[in-house]
Amino acid sequence: MARAAGRQAAVQACQYPPGRSLPEQLEWMRSIAHEGNDLSPRCDNGTVPTLNDLARSHTSLGDADVEWLHSLVSDWQLLADLSFADLILWAPASDGTGWLAVAQMRPTTGPTSLQDDVVGTFAGLEDQRLLDVARNERRIWRESDPDWTTGVPVRTEGIPVTRANRVIAVIERCTNLNSARTSSRLELTYVQGADDLARMVAEGTFPFPGAEAMLVRSPRVGDGLLRLGKSGRVSYASPNAQSAYRRLGLAADLIGSELGVITAGLCASDEPLDESLMVVAAGRAPRVAEVDGNGSVVQLRSIPLIVGGSRTGALVLVRDVTELRRRERELMTKDATIREIHHRVKNNLQTVAALLRLQARRLHAPEARAALEEAVRRVGSIAVVHETLSHAPEEIVDFDDIADRVAMMAGEVSSAEFRVAPKLTGSFGLLPSLVATPLAMVLTELLQNALQHGFPSAAKDDGLLEVAAARENERLMVTVSDNGVGLPGDFDLDSSTSLGLQIVRTLVISELGGRLRITPRPGGGTEAVVDLPVGHDPSPPRSESTQPR
Ligand SMILES: Nc1ncnc2c1ncn2[C@@H]1O[C@H](COP(=O)(O)OP(=O)(O)O)[C@@H](O)[C@H]1O
Ligand SMILES: [Mg+2]
Repeated sequence: MARAAGRQAAVQACQYPPGRSLPEQLEWMRSIAHEGNDLSPRCDNGTVPTLNDLARSHTSLGDADVEWLHSLVSDWQLLADLSFADLILWAPASDGTGWLAVAQMRPTTGPTSLQDDVVGTFAGLEDQRLLDVARNERRIWRESDPDWTTGVPVRTEGIPVTRANRVIAVIERCTNLNSARTSSRLELTYVQGADDLARMVAEGTFPFPGAEAMLVRSPRVGDGLLRLGKSGRVSYASPNAQSAYRRLGLAADLIGSELGVITAGLCASDEPLDESLMVVAAGRAPRVAEVDGNGSVVQLRSIPLIVGGSRTGALVLVRDVTELRRRERELMTKDATIREIHHRVKNNLQTVAALLRLQARRLHAPEARAALEEAVRRVGSIAVVHETLSHAPEEIVDFDDIADRVAMMAGEVSSAEFRVAPKLTGSFGLLPSLVATPLAMVLTELLQNALQHGFPSAAKDDGLLEVAAARENERLMVTVSDNGVGLPGDFDLDSSTSLGLQIVRTLVISELGGRLRITPRPGGGTEAVVDLPVGHDPSPPRSESTQPR
């Protein structure tokens, strides 16, 4: 009954009118609830506020408390699953007039008793007496009668969340009694485990202090569950857990055996005995370990149960990850293969370039010779990209490296007496290989033109050749400018039929979907601007990005 009132008073925190103090907001919420407004349980924008937002703006919990709640909710699926129940985490509102639902979890082992999302809901003190009792008496408190407001009997309990000897929040556990399973061994074991865990939450020993948040999904109850007694012997094994151990090569029964010893015995024999695995399998440390044996890989997660200061045993969650690990290995080999192919393509391109160079040396007609040398450079710029890709973990390259090397190659070709070294500023950032290869060729052509046509004879002392790159709004802008002799008077980019600019035009416009402009540079010389759509740059911004490199 109390719950019914609490639900009806439901108001979403994110619907608060902005610019009011908390007491005003709470007052506003209560007034709306009493007017009987039918408020949608979700925010207007369809999002549910986060634990952080709610805790920081509407409770007086400190950083360490909020951190504790985070670590609790990162792990409380376990409690929901073992309890076959929904969990709602309520934190006291900072003005002491009620409770705010800051997180919610549904069980994966049974039907939910809460159809709607309740995160962000406010409940007055009188609406949720259960929470108050649990907080004040500092123990798990069960409502004597089931709640029938939703048409099904729901048993509610308040579990105080204790940190550093203070109750910082209360978990409301809602069990749908209609769907309660028959009291099988499995259910009894689950519920008993849940009660131990709930008591640990109330005593401030769960979540495990200092335990690191798990980056990979930890095993769930449904993956397989073992219950160990005080001595580390298995007292219950779910069918999935049994199967996982069978696949590891266990012929004997799990029940009654010491899990630490048995598990160590199943490990692939050529590997040294893993002490930490034994500790985990014996249920002594709250950690995750992996057993590799008989061609199978099984993940174990152990949750030591210590209630009222004494060990009652442990829960060990068991998950067969053989397929997952196999796929990971496959992906790793695939990556390695792709890198090897790039390496070979680079070698082949270098061979082609070397052959062309040999042929060029044998030619006497200067024009033919120059044409072959140009081909050598074009092939070379593609090889640079493949070389970089052969070291890249993905098909994404740091184009700044490539630009450096392309510029160096172009500089080398300009004859020694009037060398103008290209200067690079800004940053290209990371680019997919599909963009990198054509762009490397474009850059080669533009640099080549500047060196060849901009500074055709003796270099001026103040010869300037600059490549500036900038990423903005998912576009890459590359400007190649020189202060050389400038474009011929009849220059027209669109009608130019010479090979170099034709290549540039085709690559920039048709292949990369970008824009190209080649115009006289203000102050003399030539300026070529390439503007490409390249998507978002995943690399962190460089602080020195406007400095010359
Ligand atoms: N940076 C530059 N400075 C002066 N002239 C240029 C520049 N870039 C291009 N041009 C002119 O554009 C013409 C076409 O260039 P391109 O298509 O690369 O052919 P090629 O380099 O083989 O002559 C060049 O011959 C040159 O007259
Ligand atoms: Mg050219």
